[in-house]
Amino acid sequence: MNTADKQTHVGREKTVPTFPTSRPSLGAEEFEALQAVFESRWLGTGALTKQFQDEIATLLGVRHVVAVNSGTAAMHIALEALGIGGGDEVIVPSFTFVSTIQAIVVTGARPVFCDIELDSGQIDVTDAISRITPRTRAILPVQYGGSTADMDRLLQVAREHSLRLVEDAAHAFGSTYRGHKIGSLSDITCFSFDPIKNITCGTGGAVTTNDDGLAYKLTLLSNVGLPVDSWTRLTQPDGQKFDVAGHGYRYRMVDLNAAIGLQQLRKADQFRRRKVEIARRYDEAFRDLPGIKLLRRDWNETFPFHYAIRVLDGRQAGLASHLRASGIGTTVHFTPNHFHTAFAAYATKLPATEQLFNEILTLPLYVDLSDEDAEFVIGQVCSFFRESG
Ligand SMILES: Cc1ncc(COP(=O)(O)O)c(C=O)c1O
Repeated sequence: MNTADKQTHVGREKTVPTFPTSRPSLGAEEFEALQAVFESRWLGTGALTKQFQDEIATLLGVRHVVAVNSGTAAMHIALEALGIGGGDEVIVPSFTFVSTIQAIVVTGARPVFCDIELDSGQIDVTDAISRITPRTRAILPVQYGGSTADMDRLLQVAREHSLRLVEDAAHAFGSTYRGHKIGSLSDITCFSFDPIKNITCGTGGAVTTNDDGLAYKLTLLSNVGLPVDSWTRLTQPDGQKFDVAGHGYRYRMVDLNAAIGLQQLRKADQFRRRKVEIARRYDEAFRDLPGIKLLRRDWNETFPFHYAIRVLDGRQAGLASHLRASGIGTTVHFTPNHFHTAFAAYATKLPATEQLFNEILTLPLYVDLSDEDAEFVIGQVCSFFRESG
């Protein structure tokens, strides 16, 4: 077994003898980039944020990228930019992180929960269609684990019913759908760059769109209603004379975060390759293991955010505690949102969601997980099923 991971916390050093489910991969490059920002004394939104946006736009082949300070903020402004608010309904899987639902609720719109496909965790498009009403304004698929929903069908449904498509692609930066980069398909795509996402900025997010009008609204909404950022205001001759052109929030990304993100962008391909390599190794080991079902995924198109398995026969908690005893962390992605107090009013029948909640278990998957670590995880998972029959 590997030596225990050491995590340094501010002001204290703590030894965490576990393999967490996820962990960012950070090196000297990110550290030096941060140092340069410190030395420049320009921590706020500036040249690095603009460069981060431009590089993502080129990478994804999308016209506009607005970098913000979280994936949650990204979804909030995406919905507001589309004019979604009180009286509107947004169809969304309950099987997602709470942020997706909070972003809908804060606009005043109603989240209408739909089910997922049991074998993939992706939105069940047929079920989503059955929940369309005259008040439906948008469908918000969640690209679960970095794999993707049936985007062709979602785009068709959106066209046929005059609905907007907003993607929660918090898990799917760098993934593709039938060869198309995620970020270039929907009206607006929302990414997260939080500490455990495919690439991180520390905290951060982005919205992408090909629509010029939406891009302008997203800029205002992210920047307290101003069409230009503070760097431009400082550096342009008449930059101090600005007009507040609409309402907006203080959601802009700052250079401190963009500096990390720019370094992570350079490593994204390598990150993806390594995570796919480990995921394939897990697949190989677990494919024929009775008691486990693999999720349906295409690693050729997926930048894996995590590695989740279905644990059958009511043994999810048993496997989790067996692994915990060996220092292996697990996570349940996700507790369905209609189970949460805040969203109980929107509860509805969601059989696949509830079944997957009782089966799903996320195992450690991160770039710096060694082959030896992965084999240790595999060995412990197999020993649970061997010992418990
Ligand atoms: C599916 C999903 N959507 C949205 C978010 C929110 O992203 P952020 O933490 O950057 O606000 C997360 C973050 O964990 C997520 O997993």
